[in-house]
Amino acid sequence: MKPWAGVIAAYRSRLALPDDAPDLTLLEGNTPLLRSAALHESLAGNLQIFFKYEGLNPTGSFKDRGMVVAFARALARKASVCVCASTGNTAASAAAYAARARLRCIVLLPGGSIARGKLAQAAMHGARIVSVSGPFDNAMRLAQELAAQRPEIELVNSVNPYRIEGQKTAAFEIADTLGDGPDFHFLPVGNAGNITAYWKGYREYAEAGKIACRPRMVGFQAGGAAPIVEGRPVSDPQTVASAIRIGNPASWKGALAAAEESGGWFGSVTDDEILDAYRFLARAEGLFVEPASAAGVAGLRKEVARGRIPPGSRIVITLTGHGLKDPDMATCIAPPEPISIGPTLTELLAVIEA
Ligand code: F0G
Repeated sequence: MKPWAGVIAAYRSRLALPDDAPDLTLLEGNTPLLRSAALHESLAGNLQIFFKYEGLNPTGSFKDRGMVVAFARALARKASVCVCASTGNTAASAAAYAARARLRCIVLLPGGSIARGKLAQAAMHGARIVSVSGPFDNAMRLAQELAAQRPEIELVNSVNPYRIEGQKTAAFEIADTLGDGPDFHFLPVGNAGNITAYWKGYREYAEAGKIACRPRMVGFQAGGAAPIVEGRPVSDPQTVASAIRIGNPASWKGALAAAEESGGWFGSVTDDEILDAYRFLARAEGLFVEPASAAGVAGLRKEVARGRIPPGSRIVITLTGHGLKDPDMATCIAPPEPISIGPTLTELLAVIEA
């Protein structure tokens, strides 16, 4: 078997990418599609549930798939700087690929909390980090304005179609592994690029005759930041899941089309439901994800309880980012409280038998 060489090498013929774009890679993609160990047992209906564990990408989130393609195209058109607005993961990924591709990187972060792991990544990779007051949507607008004015600057948010091209490869991988599309695909939705990209991937695979089943796309937002569910922008989005704290998603239209064309829908889950799923994934599945990544699992639990998922359905849930991205949330939910002992077996036995 040929060693994995990244999403451009694996899927180049299916990506709308200029021929002179280089084979840039940090060996992103090829992430595990893991059968659930416990979730299906806790739910009715004998469901077949798989997790697409995107936290195992090089920078710890699904963003790397799209970023590598956006940077390959930026290199082809000789851009020298990249900019993005981000709740953290896009920034971390852009900073890493900018380092690899030797571009300058500017990241615009919303005021308030960005998970510490993501900030550390952006800083380590040498990005210029700018905090923009107000919600994410302000930073997003500013990034678009800057890129529109300066041709040497590449905007690497998912409004850049090359990002979507790269991210659709996750759907290809799922279909390649299962031999077909699943019945349902659940995922968290923030700026709405990822649901748009997955649907593009499944659609293209169906058109190419590679799959017969196109999944219903089911997107979940956090209750305090659910503009698509409510049908209007949210001016002050609030949720513990900082990655998806977005009130006016850039790819809103693409997300609506994905749900409509696939027969899917959008829903919202509360912060408590998100944190419950976050804990469950870590404790019962051995999967440490960041809070936003648990929204799809919380969403599936809700829809099963409502009776919207037929028994025996095959379901894929994307786990979008790694738990180490947000160490503060983890230590808040499960405070590490070591029990101190001296170096004797007697004391150790006393502790474990207590
Ligand atoms: N999960 C995680 C961990 C994310 O970081 C994001 C988005 C999403 C889900 C939602 O994906 O935006 O394509 O609908 N993070 C962006 C960022 C906004 O800046 O890192 P989406």
